[in-house]
Amino acid sequence: MSLLLEPLTLRELTLPNRIVVSPMCQYSSVDGLANDWHLVHLGSRAVGGAGLVFTEATAVTARGRITPEDLGLWADEQIEPLQRITRFIRAQGAVPGIQLAHAGRKASTWRPWIGKSGSVPAEEGGWVPVGPSAIAFDPKHTVPETLTEGQIQEVIQAFVDAARRALEANFEVVEVHAAHGYLLHQFLSPLSNRRDDQYGGSFENRIRLVCQVTKAVRDVWPAALPVFVRVSATDWVEDGWNPDETVELSRRLRDLGADLIDVSSGGTAANAEIPTGPGYQTPFAAKVKEQAQIATGTVGMITEPAQAEHTLRTGQADLIFLARELLRDPYWPLHADDDLGGRKAVWPAQYQRATHRDQPIHESDLRD
Ligand SMILES: Cc1cc2nc3c(=O)[nH]c(=O)nc-3n(C[C@H](O)[C@H](O)[C@H](O)COP(=O)(O)O)c2cc1C
Repeated sequence: MSLLLEPLTLRELTLPNRIVVSPMCQYSSVDGLANDWHLVHLGSRAVGGAGLVFTEATAVTARGRITPEDLGLWADEQIEPLQRITRFIRAQGAVPGIQLAHAGRKASTWRPWIGKSGSVPAEEGGWVPVGPSAIAFDPKHTVPETLTEGQIQEVIQAFVDAARRALEANFEVVEVHAAHGYLLHQFLSPLSNRRDDQYGGSFENRIRLVCQVTKAVRDVWPAALPVFVRVSATDWVEDGWNPDETVELSRRLRDLGADLIDVSSGGTAANAEIPTGPGYQTPFAAKVKEQAQIATGTVGMITEPAQAEHTLRTGQADLIFLARELLRDPYWPLHADDDLGGRKAVWPAQYQRATHRDQPIHESDLRD
């Protein structure tokens, strides 16, 4: 029996297996609303057998969207279309999760396939982003407005309000997005945070906002359900955020009630050189798991069932997050089940005959 297909219980929630649809922006919303695309995109991956299906980065304020087309949960009318999606995911036996996010200085950019990069100008629907300090991500991005301490409190409240709405939409896992150079990561990294108040400077000050957001979300999320935090373990540049700081932050988040650290990397420094390769971020998940004594998820160029199984069996992580491989093959979990020995229990009833590869099929077979 493969560990990858084994259930995992976090708090009182049992995931049917350890395969997670990693959050993936679809840039397909109008006014932050989920629509048929999101239903089919997320629903297909639930049908495909993933245990936990995360929405894309879901903006907690309109100003915190990466692009004008991002999914959002800053208004009550955004709840209902998400309820339709969680209902479908749950009907497949999978667990619906939501990633809550604020893009900070990386907000108001073009969606990737438009062929333009950098900031969207105001006359084309863009806005001035906010950040810890008035430092642009790169010369193509607008310089952000510096958040005041009062506005920082509003950001924390926006995460809380969005978490409450997520609960009403029947999500069972919430993930705070503190990675990839977005707002919370911008506060963590000395490259983007040059503040001299209680939110900048020392390690304690730079982690304050992430800790406050995580605690505030934990306080409104039911005790029976888990809270995840996605972090970038390193900025991949000298003098940036680093893996030892990630371990110490993970300890603090654990003590504040976070249940799992989803360990990614990068996103703050435009000039970072990242040594990518299969499983290149997994050593960071292993380090956090061992040194901070908290469950971890690993993500990044994981494509093979045996690779995922090995990662779990060697205790480097508790969950395997897949992004692009699940775009290429929504049925990856079902194929992985086959590859690793096969319980076949995860095939939807409607598709079970698809597993009868070596047998002819007759009309009469379809009636039993
Ligand atoms: C189309 C696309 C959209 C993404 N959007 C998000 C996102 O909304 N939030 C996030 O944390 N990561 C996002 N990512 C990063 C993935 O979750 C994942 O960390 C990364 O792609 C590495 O995993 P992979 O090698 O399995 O693709 C996105 C990746 C892709 C390919």
